[in-house]
Amino acid sequence: MPDRPLVVLDCDPGHDDALAMVVAARFCDLAGVTTVAGNAPLSRTTYNARVMRELLGVDVEVHAGAARPLVAEAHAAASIHGASGLDGADLPAPSRPVDSEDAVRFIVDTCRRNEGVTIVATGPLTNVALALRAAPDLAGRIAGISIMGGGSFGNRTPVAEFNIWADPEAAAIVFHTAAAGELGGPLTMAGLDVTHRFQATPDRIAAVDAIGGLLARTLADLLRFFSSAYEGRHDPGTMAGAAMHDPLAVLALTHPHLFTVAERHVTVETAWGASTRGMTVIDERTLVERAAPNARVLVDVDADGAFAVLVDAVASFS
Ligand code: RIB
Ligand code: CA
Repeated sequence: MPDRPLVVLDCDPGHDDALAMVVAARFCDLAGVTTVAGNAPLSRTTYNARVMRELLGVDVEVHAGAARPLVAEAHAAASIHGASGLDGADLPAPSRPVDSEDAVRFIVDTCRRNEGVTIVATGPLTNVALALRAAPDLAGRIAGISIMGGGSFGNRTPVAEFNIWADPEAAAIVFHTAAAGELGGPLTMAGLDVTHRFQATPDRIAAVDAIGGLLARTLADLLRFFSSAYEGRHDPGTMAGAAMHDPLAVLALTHPHLFTVAERHVTVETAWGASTRGMTVIDERTLVERAAPNARVLVDVDADGAFAVLVDAVASFS
């Protein structure tokens, strides 16, 4: 992986998506940001991406994508992120408009014009799946896909993580494309097994706040809201802060030494009416006849090291 991987960040800001934007802008060559309905409706996730663009002071295009999943109905996550998708801070209204309403076109064009783009997806995989279907050459052209999603347990259901659960058909397209050996590079999966080990504890939030300035104070306020929502929805003492899911999909590319990775075969359950719809089925068996791995599953992280990198990224824009 080059020092500054060339990345398109597809996201649904979302508190942790906002921090993923910060680390992507700091450590990647950020070719663009595309938005998808997920944590909040598309209008909100796109607005929030524009807010973050201006808080960071970066000149990066923002393109709006799918307003709903391929097949399922759209379901937001207001209980965690608030109605706006980014509740918890006074956010400056963005002045720069969205650059287009066609994220899929932007993804395809960008990956065709540039060698070695990695798509980082931190929301439902609707845009990524649509791009793979719109441009059959895309999968082989890109340097890989790094997602936040899935896991050996769920959060939206006992077995389904929100990004996969929100659009299982899209996720199945992505994992099947990798299983068919069609991707030009690895599919990396930051699932709940690793992201729940990376929590925004009070001390870590204080370290962000201590940077000072509008960006750091705003992000600290957002993280306090996010952590309060997380802790309030879990048994007391089981979560010391919000799981900081999305930045790990970026750091897996830029700081691979922070992670323990397992090569696994992963499929996505798309059956309707089953209690397992949206589950990522991770083959942990040692049977020699198991299917070949199609994903690099992150299984552990140096959480202190990763949060130090996140603080560095915030400080670099402050
Ligand atoms: O399940 C966690 C994922 O769902 C994160 O990407 C969060 O932002 C939400 O999109
Ligand atoms: Ca997200």
